[in-house]
Amino acid sequence: MSASFPTKRLRRLRKNEKMRNLVQEVLFSTNDLICPVFVQEDLKSKTVVESMPDIQRLPISDVTKEVDEIKKLNIPAIMLFGIPAKKDDHGSGAFVDDGIVQKAIRQVRESFGDSIVIMADVCLCQYTSSGHCGILRGNTIDNDTSLKTLSDIALSQARAGVDIVSPSAMMDGQVKVIREALDENGFTDVGIMSHSAKHRSSFYNPFRDAADCAPQFGDRKTYQVPYTNPREAMREIELDINEGVDIVMVKPALAYLDLIAETKRRFNIPVAAYSVSGEYALVKGAAKQGWINETDIMSEILYSIKRAGADMIVTYFAKKMAEHLSK
Ligand code: PBG
Repeated sequence: MSASFPTKRLRRLRKNEKMRNLVQEVLFSTNDLICPVFVQEDLKSKTVVESMPDIQRLPISDVTKEVDEIKKLNIPAIMLFGIPAKKDDHGSGAFVDDGIVQKAIRQVRESFGDSIVIMADVCLCQYTSSGHCGILRGNTIDNDTSLKTLSDIALSQARAGVDIVSPSAMMDGQVKVIREALDENGFTDVGIMSHSAKHRSSFYNPFRDAADCAPQFGDRKTYQVPYTNPREAMREIELDINEGVDIVMVKPALAYLDLIAETKRRFNIPVAAYSVSGEYALVKGAAKQGWINETDIMSEILYSIKRAGADMIVTYFAKKMAEHLSK
C-alpha cells in the first residue's frame, strides 16, 4: 500500500449520527440550566425588556405561571432578581420581609414545595438610589457597611424559604458574613453560590435595562475584577472557598472560557458560569438580522461553556435550550 494513504482516519467515527452519538464527549442536560426570573414590584402586567428580546419583567401575579413553565421544561433551578418600586440610600427594598424577591420566594415555595431549586440574587444595585452594589460613604462604596446589609438581604431571603443565596455585589468578605449570619440564625442548610469571579464587564449593559440598576455615577471598577487579571480572578475564587461558599461562579462566560477551565482544573467545588445579558443580546441581535441561526449558535455557545468545565449555567436561553434538548 502506498505510504501516501492515511492509516488513521478520524472520519470513521463521524460517518453517521448514531456513530457520532456514541463517541460524543461533552453532554448537556436540562439539569445543567438555571433560569433567571425578573420580578418587579407594583407592575401591572408583563413588560418586555427592549435589549433582551423574549425576556420579560413579571408582576408578582405572573411568577407562579412562569415557574410552572420552567418546571415543565425540566429545568431544576431559577434565579430570582427583584426590581423594587422605590429605591433609597440603604437599599431597604432588598432586605425587608415583604420585599418583592421575598414575596416571590414565598409564592414559589408555596406553589411548588421542593420541586424546584430557588436561588436569589443578593445585591444592592437594583435597590440603591446610586445604582451601586454597595452602600455609599461620600462617593466611595463602603465595603464593610455594605457587608452588614448583604447579610440582612441573605437572611430575609432565607426566612422566605430560599435554597441558595447568590451574592453578586463583589464586596470583600461577603461570603463569610453571609455564611455566619445564616448559621447563627439556624439556616445552616441554605447554600451560597457566589458570583466569585465577577468581572467588570460591558456585557452587563442589557441587564441594567432589565433590572434598572445602572450606576448613577462612575462605574464598578473599584469592586469588580478587571478582565486583564486572570490570577486575581483565581484569588477571588480561592477566597470564597475559604469563606465557605458552596458553588463558585465565573461571570461572564463566553469571553472567559479560559477562567472556567482554570477554575475547574484547580478547585474541587461545583463551578457555575453566568452567560450574561450581553452574550444573549449579541446572539439575539445577529439572529434578528438573519446573519446567524439562533438555535445553532445558542447550542454551540452553551456546549462550549460546558466543555470549558462549567457544571451549571445561568442563561437567558435556559427555556429555549431546554426545548431544543428535548427534541
Ligand atoms: C448585579 C448584577 C449584574 C448582573 C447580575 N447581577 C449587573 C452588574 O453587575 O452591573 C448582570 C447579569 C447580566 O448581565 O446578565 N446585581
